[in-house]
Amino acid sequence: NEIKIFCPATIANLSCGFDVLGLCLDNVGDEMIIKKSALKGVRITKIVGANLPLETEKNVAGVAALALLKALNSDAGFEIEIYKKIQAGSGIGSSAASSAGAVFGINELLGRPFATKDLVPFAMQGEKLACGNAHADNVAPALLGGFTLVRSYAPLDIIQIESPSELYATVVHPQIELKTADARSVLKQNVSLQKAIIQWGNLGGLIAGLYTKDYHLIGRSLHDEIVEPLRSVLIPGFDVIKQTALENGALGSGISGSGPSIFALSKGKTTAYKIAKAMSEVYDQMQLPYEMHVSRV
Ligand code: HSE
Repeated sequence: NEIKIFCPATIANLSCGFDVLGLCLDNVGDEMIIKKSALKGVRITKIVGANLPLETEKNVAGVAALALLKALNSDAGFEIEIYKKIQAGSGIGSSAASSAGAVFGINELLGRPFATKDLVPFAMQGEKLACGNAHADNVAPALLGGFTLVRSYAPLDIIQIESPSELYATVVHPQIELKTADARSVLKQNVSLQKAIIQWGNLGGLIAGLYTKDYHLIGRSLHDEIVEPLRSVLIPGFDVIKQTALENGALGSGISGSGPSIFALSKGKTTAYKIAKAMSEVYDQMQLPYEMHVSRV
């Protein structure tokens, strides 16, 4: 009648896969406790670690949970406690962790009426509330683990891709808040054919690299022609952090989700920690507070 779950952080986009590609971090995330209740509907009873609305309809976990219950035409009731560790506006899928966690936990407590993959559309409702756009590139990896590709949104078609075993992520979060809605408002609605050709070449290369565990191919595909040039100006020290990551052995580096977090992928734990140290030195020198994560992906 009660479940405690880990709600993982995620890195969306991964340079060339805007709104379609994401990965799940192994050891960074929130916790959530969901209890069955005699009272019909969903109540958020506690939020620790963040100043977020308790009203079900204004809370991403609440909205995602309600979408699931509505689809089932269910009379069941649930209470949700959220222990946030992922800061809102950090770029590592804070809203997605809560949305995905709520639908995952409730689905378990109901005896799994849905396959995990089929929970994605409900979790997407939480994303819609958070930033106005129902993207799946954070909620899909949060629910399914590893890498996920949204092959299509209409109809929704999500492909799971296993992570190569030696792949690690280093993520630095400069302590500014960047709202996804704001980071989306700087984007252009049209893309030149020339840039699109480079982007889809890299996205294909990245997917091929993941399947064949070709780390060099992964590295040379981690490039973003379209979104990074427009968003990176919003992130203090972006160019020097990225350059530092590459100089210290990263396969590639870019904006995590809509930022301000910056990620680097690397082969092996040692390199991932070396990159973390070098990135720390950059922000220390700039006297900019930050949070650092190193994780298997
Ligand atoms: N793909 C989304 C964006 C992710 O970059 O706006 C937001 O977390």
